[in-house]
Amino acid sequence: MEYKTIYISPNELVGINIEKQLEDVNSMFDRDNLFLSVGDNGVLELNVNQVDVRSLAKQCDNEWNEPKKSLLQLIYNKIDGIKSYTITNGKRQFVDYNAERKVVNRKTKENDRSKYYYAQDNAFSKINNLLPNDFTNRIICGDSREVLHRLPDNCVDIIVTSPPYNFGLDYSNHNDSTFWMDYYNTLYGIFDECIRVLKYGGRIVINIQPLYSDYIPTHHIVSNYFLQKKMIWKSEIIWEKNNYNCKYCSWGSWKSPASPYMKYTWEYLEVFCKGDLKKLGDQDRIDISGEEFKSWVVAKWNIAPERKMKEYGHPAMFPEALVERALKLFSYTGDVVLDPFNGAGTTTYVAKKLRRRYLGIDISEEYCRTAQKRTNIHELPL
Ligand SMILES: C[S@@+](CC[C@H](N)C(=O)[O-])C[C@H]1O[C@@H](n2cnc3c(N)ncnc32)[C@H](O)[C@@H]1O
Repeated sequence: MEYKTIYISPNELVGINIEKQLEDVNSMFDRDNLFLSVGDNGVLELNVNQVDVRSLAKQCDNEWNEPKKSLLQLIYNKIDGIKSYTITNGKRQFVDYNAERKVVNRKTKENDRSKYYYAQDNAFSKINNLLPNDFTNRIICGDSREVLHRLPDNCVDIIVTSPPYNFGLDYSNHNDSTFWMDYYNTLYGIFDECIRVLKYGGRIVINIQPLYSDYIPTHHIVSNYFLQKKMIWKSEIIWEKNNYNCKYCSWGSWKSPASPYMKYTWEYLEVFCKGDLKKLGDQDRIDISGEEFKSWVVAKWNIAPERKMKEYGHPAMFPEALVERALKLFSYTGDVVLDPFNGAGTTTYVAKKLRRRYLGIDISEEYCRTAQKRTNIHELPL
């Protein structure tokens, strides 16, 4: 049996006679999971293989006498402090959990395969520019392709957006049901501008829902477009909304393999980088906590759909929590955030709240007014 060994220094054991406690504490645990030992140098060693940390916490909470209680608490803190593990059947596995993923000569093999080969020969300039003042912290009404055309190259750090889906939704100033090829051509025109204005190392996070009933995999079609444009695919995040796209109707061929209709409770976020996967920034402009980072790098985000669409008068908003995660995970405070389909202004509202600079564009005056009102609520200095 292999163990991860944690050394406990004598000054952490003040008031604990370890020789007296060792046998008693060891008898509480299955030796295959964890045990204490004293090394040749007299230092206490905590040997762990796998632990159900929640049961351990309960064990610690029992009414033990001192110093046993303190020793158990110390063991719990040490184990809970180990940040590298995997979880199997409710137990944290601390040993060899990634053995099957160990690849010999990983770097050489990566080079042989050529990492993101599709984007290697990009011609993106590495010279970044400032976003002009006229476009900084602004909500602008207009067609995004035209508005973005007025911006210099490489002036935006991150784009977080959700394009119209072409589902036939009732937008105030946009026909949401066009022939698919026309729809994509319009989107591509705006995406070309988005790529141009992104800084070198900048990111675009696009929320997409395929139109299942038309058998149109928009997330694949759009992703393929970005690959062709030599953007590096960073991630696909599942936005788990836990609501069905169709509830009890449209089973397709009921109880027959002829043509069952599949149901989905999620949407996608496709994340692409321009030129480089890394986006360096000052330490003091990072605003994500350790807990948030650990939880959000797992690329399945459980977030309920936006509930205030009626209140804001917009039929297809994404929730603030979604934008908050994207901004904290992929950008720094002070960065320039763009949403070219800003709708009721969720992105610009959250960007301002999180002390980023923002530019929101939407074709509808009504939505732009709502977005402006929302961002005005935050009086934080930028
Ligand atoms: C899915 S909604 C975005 C909603 C937004 N994420 C929110 O939370 O409020 C798409 C938006 O794109 C806007 N739109 C459609 N075509 C546009 C264009 N060519 N330029 C700018 N905005 C456009 C629509 O008016 C609509 O508000």
